[in-house]
Amino acid sequence: MPADRLDLAALIAERGSERYELNARYLNPQLPRMLHAIGFDRYYERAEGPYFYDAEGNEYLDMLAGFGIFALGRHHPVVRAAVHQVMDLGLPDLTRFDCSPLPGLLAEQLLSYTPGLDRVFFGNSGTEAVETALKFARCATGRPRILYCDHAFHGLTAGSLSVNGEGGFRRGFGPLLPDTAIPLGDLGALAKELKKGDVAALIVEPIQGKGVHAVPPGRLLAVQQLLHEHRALLICDEVQTGIGRTGDFFAYQHEEGVQPDLVCAAKALSGGYVPIGATLGKGWIFEKVYSSMDRVLVHSASFGSNAQAMAAGLATLHVLREERVVENAHRVGELFRARLAALVERYELLAEVRGRGLMIGIEFGRPKSLKLRTGWTALQAARKGLFAQMVVVPLLQRHRILTQVSGDHLEVIKLIPPLIITEREVDRFVDAFTEVMEDAHRGSGLMWDFGRTLVKQAVGSRP
Ligand SMILES: Cc1ncc(COP(=O)(O)O)c(C=O)c1O
Repeated sequence: MPADRLDLAALIAERGSERYELNARYLNPQLPRMLHAIGFDRYYERAEGPYFYDAEGNEYLDMLAGFGIFALGRHHPVVRAAVHQVMDLGLPDLTRFDCSPLPGLLAEQLLSYTPGLDRVFFGNSGTEAVETALKFARCATGRPRILYCDHAFHGLTAGSLSVNGEGGFRRGFGPLLPDTAIPLGDLGALAKELKKGDVAALIVEPIQGKGVHAVPPGRLLAVQQLLHEHRALLICDEVQTGIGRTGDFFAYQHEEGVQPDLVCAAKALSGGYVPIGATLGKGWIFEKVYSSMDRVLVHSASFGSNAQAMAAGLATLHVLREERVVENAHRVGELFRARLAALVERYELLAEVRGRGLMIGIEFGRPKSLKLRTGWTALQAARKGLFAQMVVVPLLQRHRILTQVSGDHLEVIKLIPPLIITEREVDRFVDAFTEVMEDAHRGSGLMWDFGRTLVKQAVGSRP
């Protein structure tokens, strides 16, 4: 290899086949273990749009989009070109003692989608966008406590973990901040906590990543009113639901009159190219945080607002508008859910299809017939969520479709595909899923044998 150049393609060609061993030796050892256990240990070579390809050129349909990051699919040419351009411009990026134009331009565009919000802080991830909102809410209200919802997921750094609604993620990392959980959309529980007078904010995902549960219709507005009556803030975590995922730019916009005080975004905002996080907020909140010149760096991040992330963000919003991506998410999402919902009548193991736009939850439930109930009950006794895993595995192994179980101990598969998918991808998924359901309803065979193997292994999942 010449000393003046790192030949990445040659490096990958030479060492790529060691990928699982390298991960097992130097990174999280449970990842390769888990992937081997469920037969997901593939060697993908390249990706484009909503597809991956292995070395033999087999095409895999991506219904996960890197946990929701690749809203435009992989390697969108406009975003890729923007990242190349910004590198080639040789900008004096991150000097820290000037104001570069790109963050201002991206903030201007983002805020054009969110009337009522005035300012943006750019960080590097979803959890950082949440940490920012938690700090800003405390600073602006002068109160310490944050409320959050049962089963919430807001990221895994210490502050975000303090408002995580799942014991499994928290265990072993305490003590965390003294924040308080309430059931999703429960006004009574919210009112009771607000009366104590120490609540800075409630943080909520308009549609929870875990299980794809939406705040009930009309409830977000009522929650907002109650919070504001008690001079507490509404934080909407739109890290997963934002940037078009649910068929609106932000999911809270589905409900008229909802105007959060702070909104967290990340994931899809950079088209998957460069890590990014954004916390949008009302002007008065930012004025409290940055209240004097000596507080100019009171909340900042070394890589925040970097030129690559900003360029990728600008390009992503450009594509979103030009290709009418949000409208596509709405239209294809409706079609997708309708096609899946039609299967609920046909298959007794299928309980419900829910969601909005291209954030879809498929829930399995206890079958009525004795033939299926025996197998179902055995799986449930071993661990909840194994049936959903039993569906995810043949979807990949037989049909080359990547999906995930929507959180530990849930019989729910979540689909969060790139927002650019069309009827073609919907057809491919529905055909494959129908075949897997047919198999499952035979009550015997390979799928149930595999279920018994799963009973012996514990397999984790992510909201
Ligand atoms: C709703 C929500 N908030 C926050 C996060 C954390 O984002 P990140 O993984 O970029 O830190 C996630 C990630 O899945 C999320 O779904």
